[in-house]
Amino acid sequence: MRVIASLSLAVLALTTFTASAQTTPSPKPAPKAATATRAKAAAPSKAVALTPPMGWNSWNYFAAKVTDKDIRASADQIVSTGMKDAGYIYVNIDDTWEGERDASGILHTNSKFPDMKALADYVHSKGLKLGIYSGPGGKTCAGYPASLDHEVQDAQLYASWGIDYLKYDLCSFRKDVMLAQAPDDEAARMHLMFAAYDKMGKALKSTDHPIVYSFCQYGWDSVWEWAPALGGNLWRTTGDVRPNWGSIYNIISQQAGLAKYAGPGHWNDPDMLEVGNGNLTLAENRAHFSMWAILAAPLLAGNDLPNMKPEIKAILTNKDVIAIDQDKLGREGTRAYADGEVEVWTRHLAGGALAVAVLNAGSDVVSTHPFHLSLIKLGLHGPQRGKDLWTGKDVTLTENQPVELASHDILLVRIASPK
Ligand code: GAL
Repeated sequence: MRVIASLSLAVLALTTFTASAQTTPSPKPAPKAATATRAKAAAPSKAVALTPPMGWNSWNYFAAKVTDKDIRASADQIVSTGMKDAGYIYVNIDDTWEGERDASGILHTNSKFPDMKALADYVHSKGLKLGIYSGPGGKTCAGYPASLDHEVQDAQLYASWGIDYLKYDLCSFRKDVMLAQAPDDEAARMHLMFAAYDKMGKALKSTDHPIVYSFCQYGWDSVWEWAPALGGNLWRTTGDVRPNWGSIYNIISQQAGLAKYAGPGHWNDPDMLEVGNGNLTLAENRAHFSMWAILAAPLLAGNDLPNMKPEIKAILTNKDVIAIDQDKLGREGTRAYADGEVEVWTRHLAGGALAVAVLNAGSDVVSTHPFHLSLIKLGLHGPQRGKDLWTGKDVTLTENQPVELASHDILLVRIASPK
């Protein structure tokens, strides 16, 4: 199911951008005008997601198989593994919990989730929060009922269960509404998309129940420019992440230029974590986690928690790296420079501190021809004392210093008082 859903999304994304480039010379100005009008109507009101949301989501490991039992077991594990203490709070049920609507239009859960209120109470009893999934179309990506024409009813249902987080996924809305209603007008299609996200934003707001509102429409039409005004607390910037380095690095590359759109209450979302999934090496898991911290990304683990290996737990619960992600200043990091296949990213932190990440994105080990770090290019002068966040050791970085990194590995240093 996941492969099919994602493949079709990739094709959708491609056809949309291709069609847009070929047939619509300048589709952007009209949607932005509409956005400005809506901005007045739907300003975010709830103080949620002041730092990037942290938690766990069912999709990357369980996909369509997830059940009530899996969610309870995952909540238990988040507590017993120390993940809760490290900051992972949201337990998010992704697609495939939905049943049928009754004659009054009220949505019921399917047999995998016999009692959502009881599940929410259980998750809350652990000091955690519960998230759920829907979309503006008639169907979700996996073909289950979504919220089209039932936005207020669904928002009230979530509030009655005590749901704390909604991921709202475009999916069938594109074909069934956008393409059906405006097959030849890209700008009109984008208006329909804004309106749909605005509608659910207002429905959620009208319940007065605090909830994180997460947009999932793969970054279409520069979502970072208009999502905050519609109450979006985070927005996916790309297509789906996969548990392989190619996918992760591709997503990292697509974040350039987006930093200015992120801040407390509104974050770029390069998708959930694949740490511990697929065939990622330990270096790749470390680099993935470090880069999500530099990017001020939501940290939503997506692994098999009951069978988590100790080395994966050590990555996911590294408090120093999490502190970079959760830094109160809320400034997303940027790529300072690249030299061959090695990239240097920095993130400014509260109190004047600086995080420096040196990423070897290449497939070769650079130890035979070490990369030389330029502090001057980072605006730093003289030796810089810091902490290597993966070894835990104090380090001093010097101008032109050789840095030896295995393929896809990363050096992550926090400099408390950069000069
Ligand atoms: C995709 C979404 C994934 C997952 C999936 C569920 O569109 O990007 O993260 O939610 O749908 O069907």
